[in-house]
Amino acid sequence: MCGIVGYLGDKPAYEILVKGLHRLEYRGYDSSGVALVSSDSKLNVYKTRGKVADLERFCEEKDVDGTIGIAHTRWATHGEPNDINAHPHVGRSGNIALVHNGTIENYHVLKEALELEGCTFKSETDTEVLVQLIEYIKEKNNCSLVDAVRGALKEVVGAYAIAVVDTDEPDTMIGARKSSPLVIGIGEGETFLASDATPIIEYTDKVVYLNDDEIAIIRKNEPLQIVNSDNMPAAIDIKTLRMSVSQLEKGGYPHFMLKEIFEQPRTIHDCIRGRVASSGDEVLLSGVTEHKERFLNAHRVVIVACGTSWHAGLIGKRLLQEIARIPVEVEYASEFRYSNPVLTPDDIVIAISQSGETADTLAAIQMARKCGAFVYGICNVIGSSIARATDSGTYIHVGPEIGVASTKAFTGQVTVLTMLALAIGTLKNTISKETRLQIADAIRALPTLISQTLKLNDSIEKLSGIYTYVHNFLYLGRGYNYPSALEGALKLKEISYIHAEGYPAAEMKHGPIALIDHELPTVVIAPDDEMHEKIISNIQQVKARGGSVIAVVTKGDTTIKEIADHVLEIPKVPECVSPVIVSVPLQLLAYHIAIKKGCNVDMPRNLAKSVTVE
Ligand code: G6P
Repeated sequence: MCGIVGYLGDKPAYEILVKGLHRLEYRGYDSSGVALVSSDSKLNVYKTRGKVADLERFCEEKDVDGTIGIAHTRWATHGEPNDINAHPHVGRSGNIALVHNGTIENYHVLKEALELEGCTFKSETDTEVLVQLIEYIKEKNNCSLVDAVRGALKEVVGAYAIAVVDTDEPDTMIGARKSSPLVIGIGEGETFLASDATPIIEYTDKVVYLNDDEIAIIRKNEPLQIVNSDNMPAAIDIKTLRMSVSQLEKGGYPHFMLKEIFEQPRTIHDCIRGRVASSGDEVLLSGVTEHKERFLNAHRVVIVACGTSWHAGLIGKRLLQEIARIPVEVEYASEFRYSNPVLTPDDIVIAISQSGETADTLAAIQMARKCGAFVYGICNVIGSSIARATDSGTYIHVGPEIGVASTKAFTGQVTVLTMLALAIGTLKNTISKETRLQIADAIRALPTLISQTLKLNDSIEKLSGIYTYVHNFLYLGRGYNYPSALEGALKLKEISYIHAEGYPAAEMKHGPIALIDHELPTVVIAPDDEMHEKIISNIQQVKARGGSVIAVVTKGDTTIKEIADHVLEIPKVPECVSPVIVSVPLQLLAYHIAIKKGCNVDMPRNLAKSVTVE
């Protein structure tokens, strides 16, 4: 949460910073701000509540001179989203400015100590405490900015990625991280700092991912230096980005979310490329083959994740149990990390995260590693903290996901989990060759089947008009598609603010059935699978109580067509890959309802894409 950008070079910093903030807006959009060191070494700080576009309006008539600056887009943790709490924060001299992503847990204690020393505070944020502490140390010890930053960070408990500038050292920018991401872009005579690589990619493809407890010292006309908390030089590992600017743009679609839904035939193609051999005989996941013994001998798998990734984990449980015959537990990372879990070196912990930065998932990984478990990551963002903190893993390779509501990452995660189950099942010989070929064929067919399913878009758009103003929705599914119901409901509430509940269809009669009347529509996921007959009776139970039903069915299902109010037909697929196909109409339904309600689907209120705080 929160996005930070920094620039030091010869170009006007403001444009680069604001463009970078737009790229990072998915990380939070409560307020934004920029601090520029002008050519006569003055600090100009502009910040305002609202989105980056509001900041641009605010800065229209302002002096935005300067080739060094830092900027921030905020997702509020400490203090409400207003102009004062917006970043950057400045020290009392007005010379030092700082932007911060993370939380300073001991800020109360630090604040009290600084107040005793005469500091006063304008904002309610933990960040202002940090900048005041830096300034206090700098003045007290008469030291350089970097020494003051290092001294202050030694006092801090919590998570941070920071960027700092100081008019006393107008050619210097300092960055530091602990548990929050920070990437340094190295260009020709210019250096960038950012929460992820997206603000950097159009200027350079050379990046360095800062590690925990490292401090980057960026000075004009000097090579980058990185030191650790003991001031010892750290290695500078320059990586080359494989990302293009076009991946970060809407490509003609009105919203990133719609673009990302429609991209799925290609993203799933990229996800499976080179991994499912055309003979179908082999699934090649290097993360598995390199650790064959671990997978062969594992007693149990524990999946940890949050949000949509947790829903993918629930589908992963079914897949791994059924195909690889291994016991699986699925935990919310936020609960798992505080549950004193019983883990042994024979366990495999699978961490699923689109961003690879979710704080709870990262903490769960650290705990699992301490217990000696083998940790396998399923991430999208290459080089992310989770990707680097795991023993092995598989990238989903679906490209940058910008829409806050996850779509293509979810289908990528489920596809990787299907390949993973197949790879382990093949290793362990828990499935017949026939089943293996059948699942491999189904995986390879996914891009085509998604394309066919996307043709539902127009009819879903029309259908959404009927349900735009309802207050509640129920989503029901069984088996592999019970998690699909949870995910469908989550999509709708995230972007349309309509309350929606996902439930296992058969459990409906133990509670939610009491809610059913003509005002509560129910989405029933009812493809032609083992549970088909049973789910038909669930639909009848809803209809008998006056509820309307939108059913996702397999093409040609005449039985459900007769009882449901609306049917959305998907192609026939084997049960274990059906969640990928089913998710397409559910994504489109949520999207169109939210659009009809006039909601900002790419930046829904109160949410952020990357949750790097607890
Ligand atoms: C946030 C996002 C969700 C996402 C969840 C987990 O809540 O809004 O879309 O599913 O975080 O994120 P991760 O990056 O770990 O998958």
